[in-house]
Amino acid sequence: MNENISYFLKRGFLVSPDFLDKLNSIDKSEFFKLIEEKINNKENLILLNNDLSSNIFSGNKLTLNWLEFDNSRVLFEKNKNSELYKTFLDILSYDLDSNKKEELNHLLEEVKIDEKNLGLAEENGDENNVIILKSYNDESKKRDIQDFVAYFKNRYEFLKEVLSNRKELQNAISIKRLLGRDKNEKGAVSLVGLIYDKNITKNGNIILKLEDKTSIIPLIITKNNPEIFNLANNLVLDEVIGINGFCGDNVVFVNSIFFPDVPLTKELKKCNEEVYCVFTSDLHIGSKLFLEEDFSRFIDWLNCKDCNDEEKKIVEKINYLFIVGDLIDGIGIYPGQEEDLIIKDVYKQYEKFVYFITKIPKRIKIIICGGNHDALRISEPQPILEKNYVGSLYEKDNIFFVTNPSLVNIQSSKDFSGFDVLMYHGYSFPYFADLVDAIRMEGGQKRADLIMKFLLQRRHLAPTHTSNLYIPDANQDPLLIDKIPDFFITGHIHRVNSINYRNITGLNCGCWVSQSEEQKKRGLVPDPSKIFLVNLQTREVKIRDFSKNE
Ligand SMILES: [Fe+2]
Ligand SMILES: [Fe+2]
Repeated sequence: MNENISYFLKRGFLVSPDFLDKLNSIDKSEFFKLIEEKINNKENLILLNNDLSSNIFSGNKLTLNWLEFDNSRVLFEKNKNSELYKTFLDILSYDLDSNKKEELNHLLEEVKIDEKNLGLAEENGDENNVIILKSYNDESKKRDIQDFVAYFKNRYEFLKEVLSNRKELQNAISIKRLLGRDKNEKGAVSLVGLIYDKNITKNGNIILKLEDKTSIIPLIITKNNPEIFNLANNLVLDEVIGINGFCGDNVVFVNSIFFPDVPLTKELKKCNEEVYCVFTSDLHIGSKLFLEEDFSRFIDWLNCKDCNDEEKKIVEKINYLFIVGDLIDGIGIYPGQEEDLIIKDVYKQYEKFVYFITKIPKRIKIIICGGNHDALRISEPQPILEKNYVGSLYEKDNIFFVTNPSLVNIQSSKDFSGFDVLMYHGYSFPYFADLVDAIRMEGGQKRADLIMKFLLQRRHLAPTHTSNLYIPDANQDPLLIDKIPDFFITGHIHRVNSINYRNITGLNCGCWVSQSEEQKKRGLVPDPSKIFLVNLQTREVKIRDFSKNE
């Protein structure tokens, strides 16, 4: 047997013929080293083909759900869903250089032609697809300062690239180069950097310290330009921005500020069929304040109990349910929580969660992530819920556990790339609600819509170092919003609030629990027992209230 084939078979891989061809033309020792690394990292690399090899050679360490990648390849090869496979390749190749991207596209084209010749195009794939594009491995190794450095560098590189694509920042230079310039040369300048420090002077001007990989420089924003002053006033530490300004002596006076932001060109995607998706979060099962009657009413409604004919027509077309964390109230989450609990055992709290979820019709695909009250580490990305808590749900085909955050694609078919749903429980939300004037003065935690917009503009779920707890993965930043979603779904602050920002539907789900004393202290005013019902054909968002029989 060919030594290459036996190497892979021994390790449980299938190898595609195109990949073996490629293997003859490359440096095998380097390649095998990288494969070993992936095996040691317990990544599920199942089918090896040419596209994957390009990814491996690029040194790209993005953690994908390899099993789903493999499934998408199968669908692609059956000509059932080429968009999905492309989406995966997009993610895989976002940091590839243009030659490699071209090579990937070329490969895709080749396979397409093959499929047409094989006549596999008739099959139609409308199967309520759920594809987990990004869910993160739980790597519990010790981290040190170098991991934090690499983590920020990684994030910075991505956001810098996004910003550098703007025409206003095409001529951005490094801070070191600016500082080394001849005095006579000084004039207009563009920079991209991370906000290292922010202060207001006695005269009421803002001084920022902007840092890039080469140096740090102070930026001055005078109060005389209210528009820019306002933008600068709402900047937060560690966010990455671009600026235009003019140079003084070792200082830059800013006249424009740019955020990485999501592109204006994002289309409002709609599917051809009338299909509905429900979004909710923050059940807090186990709490004395869990609104069990209301939640039961919701579960009954999903089963069309007591629905009138008109409503029945809609409920029967609900194909997806997203639950964005805080499934249970947990134990020891805050001082004195014991007093607020009616179920004082985490296993029993999950038992009740499982009881409710099993009552939901099997037709509905349920996508679940954890939150800060769940039995998980609090550092993000939070892993998926463990089998010992929700084991019986693991066996159900319609239930998908994902990490917090995660990126999930739904409703894809042969002709439709589906909707990308970014799920994030929202632990960082109170930090920005309290700290950013533009949010705090408009209602703070009651304005999840403003928080969602703020984070989309920053292309990051927790831009400031202290806004959440996180695992600094040196190779990737799971909290980056690198792929632009169609839906951005959050929870945590127990308010029902929505926004359409540049054709991204932002939904902050409410909760199923009334206000505890602890929440009162934190200024959290809940808006319980409501769900979002979204028509995926029209993108219309409706709120359904279960707090009373309507
Ligand atoms: Fe919650
Ligand atoms: Fe929460």
